Amino acid sequence: MLVSNNNPSIAVIGGTGKEGYALAARFAKAGFRTIIGSRSASKAVNTAYNLNTEFHVLTAEGCSNREATAKADIVILAVPYDGMMPILEDIKPVSTGKIIINIASSLDAEKKSRARINPAGSIAKEIQNFFGADAKVVDAFQNISPEQLEKYDEKIETNVLVVGADRETRDKIIGIINKIGIDAYDAGSIQNAVVVETMTAALIAINIRYKTKGAGIRLVGVSSS
Ligand SMILES: NC(=O)c1ccc[n+]([C@@H]2O[C@H](COP(=O)([O-])OP(=O)(O)OC[C@H]3O[C@@H](n4cnc5c(N)ncnc54)[C@H](OP(=O)(O)O)[C@@H]3O)[C@@H](O)[C@H]2O)c1
Repeated sequence: MLVSNNNPSIAVIGGTGKEGYALAARFAKAGFRTIIGSRSASKAVNTAYNLNTEFHVLTAEGCSNREATAKADIVILAVPYDGMMPILEDIKPVSTGKIIINIASSLDAEKKSRARINPAGSIAKEIQNFFGADAKVVDAFQNISPEQLEKYDEKIETNVLVVGADRETRDKIIGIINKIGIDAYDAGSIQNAVVVETMTAALIAINIRYKTKGAGIRLVGVSSS
């Protein structure tokens, strides 16, 4: 699989981790130029090499978080919330005009099955405040586990909710999510980010209660077209 020039390029900051790697693999397999970012450029290069080898593609590359951001149209932040701020400071100088996707949830640091609302209203709002008008921030993928993403050859049942930025940006993100085999829906403005980010706590509680790993959500009563 070679890069398809019709697709935007995707940076996955923290694509060395479980969730980021699974997302990067889906984009790379779908022909997106996929740039894995890491605090260690050599770690990112190794991860991209492993990804290309595992999936028989040539679409992934690896570099530092800042270089990955500079190269991409769309930047996925696949890093833990607690470690995010130094990374945002690192990539800010090259973030102008980018779409930034936050995938982190608003969870109690001590007990992740409990929601904790971010003082800014949501993590997405905190990130948007940090970048100001220079970048467009959306939330997506909060409610989809690596275990679900790793079902590379199956239809994914979980839906992804996209919130934040403007309608045109949300439609663009829904379009690329559809291309990696996942149904996604426009769930409104950044004011709704708190809903998406805190729902993860309920899904984690469900995972614990029902001894599973991949509890997700699926909308009824709406068509994605
Ligand atoms: N796991 C899930 O079920 C799930 C589901 C949906 C969304 N998410 C979200 O996806 C994001 C990544 O989750 P994950 O489970 O893949 O996380 P992870 O494996 O703990 O971390 C992902 C990557 O982030 C970087 N990182 C780790 N700790 C860091 C720190 N303290 N400061 C800065 N960078 C750090 C590392 O990359 P480098 O060392 O290469 O820089 C690491 O490979 C999180 O925001 C999480 O909330 C997770």
